[in-house]
Amino acid sequence: LFSAVEMAPRDPILGLNEAFNADTRPQKVNLGVGVYYNEAGRIPLLKAVELAEKARAEARAPRGYLPIEGIGTYDSAVQKLLFGADSDIIKSGRIITSQAVGGTGALKIGADYLKRLLPNAVVAISDPSWQNHRALFSAAGFPVQNYRYYDPIQQGVDVEGMLEDLRELPRQSIVVLHACCHNPTGVDLNTEQWQAILEVLKECNHVPFLDIAYQGFAEGIDEDAAAVRLFADSDMPFFVSSSFSKSFSLYGERVGALSIVAGSKEEAKRVLSQLKLVIRTNYSNPPTHGASVVDLVLNTPELNALWQEELGEMRDRIMRMRKLMVEQLAAKGAKKDFSFVVEQRGMFSYSGLSKEQVERLRDEFGIYAVASGRICVAALNLNNIDAVTDAIVQVL
Ligand code: LMR
Repeated sequence: LFSAVEMAPRDPILGLNEAFNADTRPQKVNLGVGVYYNEAGRIPLLKAVELAEKARAEARAPRGYLPIEGIGTYDSAVQKLLFGADSDIIKSGRIITSQAVGGTGALKIGADYLKRLLPNAVVAISDPSWQNHRALFSAAGFPVQNYRYYDPIQQGVDVEGMLEDLRELPRQSIVVLHACCHNPTGVDLNTEQWQAILEVLKECNHVPFLDIAYQGFAEGIDEDAAAVRLFADSDMPFFVSSSFSKSFSLYGERVGALSIVAGSKEEAKRVLSQLKLVIRTNYSNPPTHGASVVDLVLNTPELNALWQEELGEMRDRIMRMRKLMVEQLAAKGAKKDFSFVVEQRGMFSYSGLSKEQVERLRDEFGIYAVASGRICVAALNLNNIDAVTDAIVQVL
């Protein structure tokens, strides 16, 4: 049965963890996967999470099956974070939200549902994008193409190119957009650019699919949701996949959500009924623990405030690492100006390092980055940054 099975390539991001774990060099540094490490080089257990877990353990909460769409109070807390606590669109009942198995799970149930709804559509993703976007929408049966996004010369967005490519897509294409902290480039659209994109999407009847996995890592919870809220004001139907992996440091708990904005409350109900069919035949219903913790934190004012404070600390530390990295590279005589790193948002820096330079970083120095040159700034700390900037200077 399996004699002709070929070895599949390693995942371009998670495969780096496998190689990193197998590396026996003590000074190794993992700047590959998008994970926040604290100053001690550890994935933090947030205090708000610890308190919620304690309360949950003490309550001896039963572990029955959840509803197919997950915990109701969690789903409504997700809506408030994304659309704003006083959002009219929430009041209108036009949004449905379903708990999902991480942000990836949200994309997957969204993709599978869209395949039933628009079987002949094309999916467009940014060039470059998170590698799993292409893989996931292809696996759902869609042809996937790129729209222009990153301009390496300007180290910004090629908005004209992007608008042109979006106009050229077949009508009613599915357009995947990073709502904030673009992965991998860290380069986001500004408000006017979002507005221009929105107009073209409307004109062409495209279906926006906003992916927001890093809310709170650029400027703050509300600021980072600006694009989602702009779309909410537009009357367009759209999809939003969101994740708490990073913002709650709950990577392995797989806590995410899919929200769909429909044309009316009645339409939204029908959409949810269809989405539930997709979920039931995928994994039946979602797991309890992670989402219960997030639910408790978001719906308890003191825990919510504590969480926002801790998220702010993560954001500020990343910014300090960006600044230090730029200063050190300049001081060490790097043959390239890295000042753009402080302008990039979220966990990543699209460093401009070539595939060969990334390979040298790994082979000669035990420093792991994604082949595209993406490095996770959130994994830098005062103990490893010197070694990282020394190595970068040497491979340039
Ligand atoms: C990343 O881009 O590194 C993260 O989103 C983790 C993942 O699943 O790829």
